[in-house]
Order: sequence, then C-alpha cells, then structure tokens
Amino acid sequence: MSVLLELKRLVERPYHRHSRVLSVGGWVERVDNVGGLYLLQILTDSPLSPEPPQFGMVWVPGMEAVPMTLIPAGEDRVAILVRPVGSTTNALAAMRPGKRLMLIGPSGKGLRLRPGTAVVAGGSATTVALAYAASGYRGPYLVATRRASEALALRRLFPSSNEVVTACEDSGCDFLGTAVDAIREGAVDAGAYLIAGPKPMLRGAYTVLRERGVLETSYAVVEVEVRCGTGACGLCRVPGTPYLLCVDGPALPLTDLAAYLGVS
Ligand code: FES
Repeated sequence: MSVLLELKRLVERPYHRHSRVLSVGGWVERVDNVGGLYLLQILTDSPLSPEPPQFGMVWVPGMEAVPMTLIPAGEDRVAILVRPVGSTTNALAAMRPGKRLMLIGPSGKGLRLRPGTAVVAGGSATTVALAYAASGYRGPYLVATRRASEALALRRLFPSSNEVVTACEDSGCDFLGTAVDAIREGAVDAGAYLIAGPKPMLRGAYTVLRERGVLETSYAVVEVEVRCGTGACGLCRVPGTPYLLCVDGPALPLTDLAAYLGVS
C-alpha cells in the first residue's frame, strides 16, 4: 500500500487518529526564495493552528508525504520552509501561487518556552526557530547554517524585535563555527535551551549543556522517520525512549535523550 493510501486510511479511522490532527487541503498563496530555501505561505481549507514546534505531513498530490515544521501564519494559514533535497521537496519548491497541496497535522505537542529560553536551530531545523518567532516568542535565537548567505537570509524573516545571533562555517555571520561551538563560547547565554538540529548537533549540545548545568531545563527537537503523523503506525518511536515523536514530540526533555544520543 502506498504511503498516501495508508495516510488516507489512517485519518479516516477516528479511533486511530490523534484528537487534534486534521487532514486538510491547502492553496499556495506565496513563495519566497530565502537564500536557496523556499518559504511557502499556504491558505488551508480548515485552520490547523499549530503551536511550535508541531509539524505536519505535507505532500503534493501524487507524491510521498514529508514531515515539515508548521509555521503559524494567521487564521487558516500556515507556512513551511522547504529545502529542496528530494522528489517531494523539489516539487514543493517548484510550486507557485494557486497550486494545491495536502497537509495532515498538527502532529506532536506544542512546547511553551519560559521567557529567556534560547532557541538554537541548525540545518533544516532552522524552521523551528521561525515557528517560535512567528508565534511571538522573542528569543534569544541562534540560527546556525553552513553558509552565511543562508543564515543572513533567514535572519531577515525574524521580527526586528527578536534577538537573533547567526553562526556559520564561513565568514559573514556573528559567530564563525558550528552551533555547538557557539553555545560553548557563550554566543547565546541562557538558563534553558531548546536545541533543534541534526543528531550530531544534539549530541554535542547535550554534552556542553550538561557541563554548564542546564540540562534539566533544556529540550531538543528530535528528527526520526515519520510515516502517519497520527500516532497510529508506531514507526516514529524515538530509540531509547518511551516516546512516539508524532505524539509526544518533537520536543523532548534532553535528560531523557542520553540513550538516543549515545551519551553516558
Ligand atoms: S509516524 Fe506513525 S505513530 Fe508516529
């Protein structure tokens, strides 16, 4: 059975459905190129009302669904930030206003951050920081990318009132180095952190935050394979934890992630 048929079957069975997860269609309203990424503003048939860092399964009719962080964009609207790296994300990046796509979400739980929590986002997870900024959270933020052009383009999407530090592996950002280097060097200093990025980044952050004594107040946004996004298939269990990503995540307490991250 194709993934799309499986998704359709799952959302049509209410007893398998996460109570707040909806399957909706959407119309692309606007597409902006953001340093080689594509920001799609989408008008949805019904409000999804995501709370960061919730995500949705997004697909172009006829293609596979992919999980994407949902950026709140007002009533009946969400935005997604697309990095074109595969068939579905290439198709999403090529969409133009007026085109139709489908979404299932919001999956997972929202996480309200206590004031002063630093949001550190790297790689494709920089969308998590944008989702918090769009929901009104002021930061501080650390946006880490390989190339300065991408980080600087992303920073322009934040409201001017947000405190945003950029870190890159080439010159042009506020900090030269990785997200973990930036945390270690105190580029963003906080009593609690939300870390979003690839697993090696989470692992490095875990070690640094433990040394600084702020592990217990910090969370990580985890990425594992997701299929249904509804809590039905069980595929998204986070190894070494009792959590299903699409139900309990994607933000999980860092103290519960030692086994998953392979740190002792
Ligand atoms: S992706 Fe199916 S349970 Fe989470």
